[in-house]
Amino acid sequence: MLDLFSDEAPWTEPLAPGAVILRRLARDEAGDLLRTVMEIAAVNPFQHRITPGGYRMSVAMTNCGNLGWYSDRRGYRYSEQDAESNRPWPPMPASFLALAQRAAGLAGFKDFAPDACLINRYAPGAKMSLHQDKDEKDLSQPIVSVSLGLPAVFQFGGFERSDAVQRVLLEQGDVVVWGGPSRLRFHGIQPLKPGVHPDAGAFRYNLTFRRAGMAHF
Ligand code: SIN
Ligand code: FE2
Repeated sequence: MLDLFSDEAPWTEPLAPGAVILRRLARDEAGDLLRTVMEIAAVNPFQHRITPGGYRMSVAMTNCGNLGWYSDRRGYRYSEQDAESNRPWPPMPASFLALAQRAAGLAGFKDFAPDACLINRYAPGAKMSLHQDKDEKDLSQPIVSVSLGLPAVFQFGGFERSDAVQRVLLEQGDVVVWGGPSRLRFHGIQPLKPGVHPDAGAFRYNLTFRRAGMAHF
């Protein structure tokens, strides 16, 4: 769709050492990314995982890439298969990988080699409580997070859950990268406000790219 009011170039907003928002970096390819998300979800449907504590997560999830993030009563982990279908996750599309590597490079992380892309879907009211991404084996690689669809308030905190958080609105095409000294910062998403997005309808989608397994040389 032609958007006459959003032709500004992407810009960068620092969050913390090793953490940056690349505003609108993926705006022009957002429609294509969303179509690819729907293709992945047609094969490996979005699911509401159960936390180890027995709660149903409000965010629905699927994955692509060699490894997918998974949660059930036994814990949080990465797996090579979708436990619902017992099939491998769909391969990471070349367009996803290229975007993730480009964003990581712009944020100062060369040679990002993600092997996992968690795809989150937020309906109104869905949220992600403050947490650290620490199930990955190689913490030298950053997290690259791409926002699509409805806007949401991202919380970016410190190294203790109780630390003060920055709150920033993430809109379609915004990419957040955190790594290095910020890799283990707590972060989360406040409950999604209802709305209708021209490309994504009543949802927010988020792609999070990680290096989950060991680097192979
Ligand atoms: C996450 O921390 O896995 C998701 C963050 C987001 O949805 O922006
Ligand atoms: Fe996370």
